[in-house]
Amino acid sequence: MSIAEKFVTMEYGPAPEDPKEAQLWLDRHGRKFNHFIAGEWQAPPAGEYFDTVDPSTGEILASIAQGSSPDIEAAVRAARAAFPKWRALKPHLRARYLYNLARLVQKHSRLLAVLETMDNGKPIRESRDIDIPLVARHFYYHAGWAQLLDQEFSQPEPCGVVGQIIPWNFPLLMLAWKIAPALATGNTVVLKPAEFTPLTALAFAGLCQEAGIPAGVVNIVTGDGSTGEALVKHPDVDKIAFTGSTEVGRAIRAATASSHKRLSLELGGKSPFIVFDDADLDSAVEGLVDGIWFNQGQVCCAGSRLLMQESIAEVLISKIRDRMNTLRIGPPLDKAIDIGAIVARVQLERIERLVAQGVAEGATCWQPQVALPSRGFYFPPTILSNVHPSSIVAQQEIFGPVLAAMTFRTPKEAVELANNTVYGLASCIWSENINVALHVAAQIKAGVVWVNCTNLFDAACGFGGYRESGYGREGGREGLLEYMEPKWFKHAPKLSAAVAPPALESREWAESNSPSIDRTVKLYIGGKQARPDSGYSMQVRSPDGRILGEASLGNRKDIRNAVEAARKAESWTKATAHSRAQVLYYCAENLTLRSDEIARWLAGAVGEQQARHEVELGVQRIFSYAAWADKFDGAVHNPPFRNIAIAMNEPIGTVGVISPSETPLLGFLSLVMPLLAAGNTVIAVPSEKYPLITADLYQLFDTSDLPGGAVNIVTGYVSQLLKPLAEHDDVDAIWCYGDDATVASAKAMSTGNLKQVWTNEGRAIDWFDSSIAEGRWFLEHATQVKNIWVPYGE
Ligand code: NAI
Repeated sequence: MSIAEKFVTMEYGPAPEDPKEAQLWLDRHGRKFNHFIAGEWQAPPAGEYFDTVDPSTGEILASIAQGSSPDIEAAVRAARAAFPKWRALKPHLRARYLYNLARLVQKHSRLLAVLETMDNGKPIRESRDIDIPLVARHFYYHAGWAQLLDQEFSQPEPCGVVGQIIPWNFPLLMLAWKIAPALATGNTVVLKPAEFTPLTALAFAGLCQEAGIPAGVVNIVTGDGSTGEALVKHPDVDKIAFTGSTEVGRAIRAATASSHKRLSLELGGKSPFIVFDDADLDSAVEGLVDGIWFNQGQVCCAGSRLLMQESIAEVLISKIRDRMNTLRIGPPLDKAIDIGAIVARVQLERIERLVAQGVAEGATCWQPQVALPSRGFYFPPTILSNVHPSSIVAQQEIFGPVLAAMTFRTPKEAVELANNTVYGLASCIWSENINVALHVAAQIKAGVVWVNCTNLFDAACGFGGYRESGYGREGGREGLLEYMEPKWFKHAPKLSAAVAPPALESREWAESNSPSIDRTVKLYIGGKQARPDSGYSMQVRSPDGRILGEASLGNRKDIRNAVEAARKAESWTKATAHSRAQVLYYCAENLTLRSDEIARWLAGAVGEQQARHEVELGVQRIFSYAAWADKFDGAVHNPPFRNIAIAMNEPIGTVGVISPSETPLLGFLSLVMPLLAAGNTVIAVPSEKYPLITADLYQLFDTSDLPGGAVNIVTGYVSQLLKPLAEHDDVDAIWCYGDDATVASAKAMSTGNLKQVWTNEGRAIDWFDSSIAEGRWFLEHATQVKNIWVPYGE
């Protein structure tokens, strides 16, 4: 075709990226790769290998070691051996290593981009311009944190050996998100890349050698899910960081429940892309191209649910179809391709199956007339309209270039639809009215909200989910916290086993007014005293066996009522930080007024000295959280785009608390007050040793203007109350302070809706030491960060 003819047709010609260097790199390794353990390439003792395939052609690229328990064992041992020196390294030196890695990623960026595209099938335009530059940015950013760690955190202590498991959709980027913060904070790692895309992780192992990273600090073991499982179960791993499907995330939660491994999970999503009638529709369509057709839609935060205001639905769908007609699908190494190959046949089949199911459920399917390449795994860009909100394609992650479109009428309806899945990873809001956009942003249950933009990421801005999209953040200051623990906590002694509940001495409630009994305590639900559903009570005795009183024996039904009351307590969740502070100050004031009386009661259970201490420090603790309520602010980030990202510390929601037994008043206040300060509502089970404290607490709350339902107290045996609390789907998090067995039960029982669990890991906590038992560490667990990205400029 002549140039003149080209000007007429404006057809794209082929613009292939040359894969020669990548092919040479594969040849140099004999197209066969072993594990990277203790700074060396180690063959698997079992001698098993699997193939990694170019999904755009179906051709085999290389043969990869299949890891099993002995490989994981060797890698964990290497990481453990390397840990003391790496941890003790001066921050500046760790910073230099990370800086070296950043420089090397930049130096080899073209090779890495081509390899990524060959192994994954994503367009070279994306791996070259988005994935790899962001990888370098993560290492630069975290080199900075390594340098500043001692100045910015008090006594930062790494978790230890970290097991990291990553998916195939952003292979090297997910590696960077995991490895950079782990190394910056002084951990050593064993990373398992996804079986479909191991090549760039292996290339990264070469960069670690080139950067002189000490042997054992970074170990890479390849393999499939069984390799990941072996890593999760290894007893000498201190933390697991996982990105992948919600299903595997749940399995990992269950597998780690009886261990003390820390866990962060970045799971699936079904993110809403909301377009209001005043939006700039052409920009919204371009946003959508990035939202759902970026990386063939294989993106955890893909804007896969299009929610359109009814009045603009028709015109928007027509604009989207016009734009879809211009999307170019084909060989991903072609620089002018928009949509590349799906990562593997099994994923392609999953997309086909889900789309067919959506159509069977009544959706209308539209695809542009495009010829797909004859080889490889491809799926055309697809829009499903007339989708019912309960349809499988509106609820389940398809992980393909498939958009499910629905309509709404009012902003309220948009929020309801947006929040109508189990997920909460990301969302987009398109409106020219900034007031509406920010008002809606605040109501969306998602870790990231993009206003008039889509799929922007930066190392300085934390990323992660609400609800079943997981917990923990990657990036930002909050991302570092996932890899550190307070020094005192790491070395805290074990709590001696909890006292077993006394043999059931329950009696009919009506009989409980025996003259020798001092106090009879009811439950506290929705701001009112409530009789227990069981009609029974439990005797409470002093250490020397005297009866101190009777407390209600709460059961499953009482927990359900308490959760319902907590969910309804909107006047607390919507209160301003200033109002919350005022109520807490008032609580402190009222506790001061009644301190002698409360201490006298409490002395029966814990002795006079401890009782006085608990009350005195209790007042201070409440004061402290009253002070924090309007100071535990978020931040404003300046990512390298024309955007600001507003990082808000939001409450987690409704939180179940199992209070420590040994300090009935102070332990209760130490957990409940930070949750209240952050705007959560609480269902608390008070100390089993002295549940009679409840009577003092409800008097305190009633006289301090705390709205009904903000705190609910259900007395009884932890062994009976933990289960309904941990299994309840309307409880967003569990804080469980008890012995090893209780803590393990809390973790195991709460896997259903993947609620966050925070525990003392069976360790003793000195609640009388304010330097450890209050402050940021508690508030960080009482909140989750939402990043709202807002663009600026014309
Ligand atoms: P997956 O969750 O099975 O795989 C992710 C990683 O976990 C891989 O490295 C895998 O080898 C490992 N793994 C698998 N089973 C494991 C186990 N029992 N213990 C420890 N590690 C284990 O995801 P898969 O099968 O590749 O994709 C299936 C679906 O999951 C996708 O269609 C998509 O819906 C979703 N997905 C979501 C991702 C996200 O970023 N949110 C990423 C990848 C997949």
